[in-house]
Amino acid sequence: MTLAGLALHAPGPGPRKDTEVPDLAFYRPLFAPWLGYKDFKHFFMPVRHYTLVSPDRCYQLYSLLQQAVRVPGDVWECGVYRGGTAMMFAAVLEKLAATSKTLRLFDSFAGMPETDEHDWHQAGDFHDTSLESVSGRIPQKNVTFHAGFIPDTFAGLQDSRICFAHIDVDLYRAVKDSTEFVYPRLSPGGFVVYDDYGFITCPGARRAVDEFYADKPEVPLVLPTGQAIVFKLGESHGTPSIG
Ligand SMILES: C[S@@+](CC[C@H](N)C(=O)[O-])C[C@H]1O[C@@H](n2cnc3c(N)ncnc32)[C@H](O)[C@@H]1O
Repeated sequence: MTLAGLALHAPGPGPRKDTEVPDLAFYRPLFAPWLGYKDFKHFFMPVRHYTLVSPDRCYQLYSLLQQAVRVPGDVWECGVYRGGTAMMFAAVLEKLAATSKTLRLFDSFAGMPETDEHDWHQAGDFHDTSLESVSGRIPQKNVTFHAGFIPDTFAGLQDSRICFAHIDVDLYRAVKDSTEFVYPRLSPGGFVVYDDYGFITCPGARRAVDEFYADKPEVPLVLPTGQAIVFKLGESHGTPSIG
């Protein structure tokens, strides 16, 4: 159902010759810093051939990570493929001198596992990558690679704390397993970004997120980019609900 007649962008007052709008080239029609505003282009350009994640989605990740590094815990990515977003995370952590945080990267690096009835993807999708090629692109010392299938590769990490997790695994089971492990270890004030939430090709991803957070106080924030963000609350909060 669409909301007929709802103006998403109210018309403005029209152009004024006497007022200069800074960075006018980045308005399309709204301010769109993912087109390469300031520092972002230095982080995005080197990774653009190694990621499926569009510039607007990368910009959300880039922005959120800069805040998340102030929260205790490490940075996790579930779903690395050819390493594009992971390369960007490593570069941002390096630039912020936040290399005391470990960047943990989880992927089979050999394609998807068996999928189920909630998924459009098939076993073996994304097989055209390798641990060797990805690790060669991410030379930073604070990065660890966890090759194999989630959740097996979470073994031994029960004591982890996490400040930021990018969950980009597309599949119902993998999103659910990743969330069940990450959520209790996510520091208050930290974030989880689900890349695939709104994509028609990933119905299982949205289902997994909706099921998991149905009885949690956090409400996933759905973005026009297709991503959903969860902001982790602290210990003390009420439990109101609008059903
Ligand atoms: C969409 S790709 C990740 C894209 C990447 N973040 C980028 O920058 O382009 C999804 C990845 O998740 C991996 N994956 C899905 N389910 C998995 C599981 N259960 N265990 C390990 N890897 C999995 C796939 O093999 C694939 O490499």
